[in-house]
Amino acid sequence: MAGGFSVSASAGSQFEAKITPVVIISCLMAATGGLMFGYDVGISGGVTSMDDFLIKFFPKVYRRKTESKDSNYCKYDNQGLQLFTSSLYLAGLTATFFASYTTRNLGRKLTMLIAGVFFLVGVILNGAAQDLTMLIIGRILLGCGVGFANQAVPLFLSEIAPTRIRGGLNILFQLNVTIGILFANLVNYGTSKIHPWGWRLSLSLAGVPALLLTMGALFVVDTPNSLIERGRLEEGKAVLKKIRGTDNVEAEFNEILEASRVAHQVKHPFRNLLKRRNRPQLVIAILLQIFQQFTGINAIMFYAPVLFNTLGFKNDASLYSAVITGAVNVLSTVVSIYSVDRVGRRVLLLEAGVQMFISQVVIAIVLGIKVTDHSDSLSHGYAIFVVVMVCTFVSSFAWSWGPLGWLIPSETFPMETRSAGQSVTVCVNLLFTFVIAQAFLSMLCHLKYGIFAFFSGWVVVMSVFVLFFLPETKNVPIEEMTEKVWKQHWFWKRFTDDDDRVVDGDDKNNTQP
Ligand code: BGC
Repeated sequence: MAGGFSVSASAGSQFEAKITPVVIISCLMAATGGLMFGYDVGISGGVTSMDDFLIKFFPKVYRRKTESKDSNYCKYDNQGLQLFTSSLYLAGLTATFFASYTTRNLGRKLTMLIAGVFFLVGVILNGAAQDLTMLIIGRILLGCGVGFANQAVPLFLSEIAPTRIRGGLNILFQLNVTIGILFANLVNYGTSKIHPWGWRLSLSLAGVPALLLTMGALFVVDTPNSLIERGRLEEGKAVLKKIRGTDNVEAEFNEILEASRVAHQVKHPFRNLLKRRNRPQLVIAILLQIFQQFTGINAIMFYAPVLFNTLGFKNDASLYSAVITGAVNVLSTVVSIYSVDRVGRRVLLLEAGVQMFISQVVIAIVLGIKVTDHSDSLSHGYAIFVVVMVCTFVSSFAWSWGPLGWLIPSETFPMETRSAGQSVTVCVNLLFTFVIAQAFLSMLCHLKYGIFAFFSGWVVVMSVFVLFFLPETKNVPIEEMTEKVWKQHWFWKRFTDDDDRVVDGDDKNNTQP
């Protein structure tokens, strides 16, 4: 990402570094970690709209769907069906706490390996599932994989990347999340024609990114930061020379040594995070993740096929539409890579707010007028119009709240709280992803078209928040955020004024840049 480049360049351009094969491998790691997450997000919606799958695991839902005595909006409303999708996120958010322990004490490499093994066992259980229990346990194991991978992979990348391409590598992860979702949609489109086991193929193909992540984790070296943090100084220095492609690493080595000394003094990273002076970053990180989910994006990502089915599209057309929204998601993420450091974060978020609001309100109106509880389907023209509006919504999300919900929390925390802050970010993301996944089908059933009005209301709230409370972080070096951003902000500066610079009750441990 362009912002990453400028931030990185000014923060550490004094270190000599080539782009070596080890760094290329780390890019592939990012790709597979992101692909795995995206594939899991994208696969369940298509699978839960396949008749063969419903007949085997959710016969009640299948009967409701075919007998169509129920309201159009309620035919998929089933807690078990929602649990299939959402169990992954509940498991994932629990796993992040263990993952932050293993990343620190066992290293990034081993944590990624643990993630890969969770993924593989989860995929086997899902692909071979004979009953609902096997299916849900498989999803839970995949969730553990997500928790471990999403904590370790971004950390691994930030540490192993040469400073000048660190931002680019980070957003590559989000780009791969969107590619994973698209890949899952394409797979579903193909497997829905294979009876009666197409759904098994959909769930099993997650084995491909899972295997890539596992193999990758076996072959890469751990990061020098992690090795040094765990006292393996010589090994850390040797790895640093290898990944930077030069023997001239003394300055960077010393900086990591100093950072690890400071990190060791912070005995309670999470308690430190709660200090008043860290309040602005903590509040922003938590709210951005909550807002990201309350745009309603995952209602579309998880349930687009179900949603389009509800609108009266035939099975095939539903998956086809989901493929289109998936492609729009990928392409619009690329737009963000190019524009985020030119126009800035605030402009993207505010523009997207308007675009998301309009498209959601229009969808609500069309559905409100055209889809009654028992009508057969939308007319062809209106159906296409709804898909276009959904794409308008998805594209604006993909160049705003999608990448920025992750980018902004990761760039605003000072070093002393960055990793604990990342843990909280991942955890809040998965928690609210879970809430949406679990609630959406019931909300669709009860609010009907009003669900889009509900999310559009949230879009207004978050846009007002951005307008008044989110400072611009474009082109600000990462270690200068406190001085240049938070201390200058009309509202947040009151939190940074206090001179409480004590870490864990010991002022020797002051680590403010
Ligand atoms: C969000 C996911 C979402 C994805 C869609 C990510 O930034 O965290 O919840 O499914 O974007 O592309």
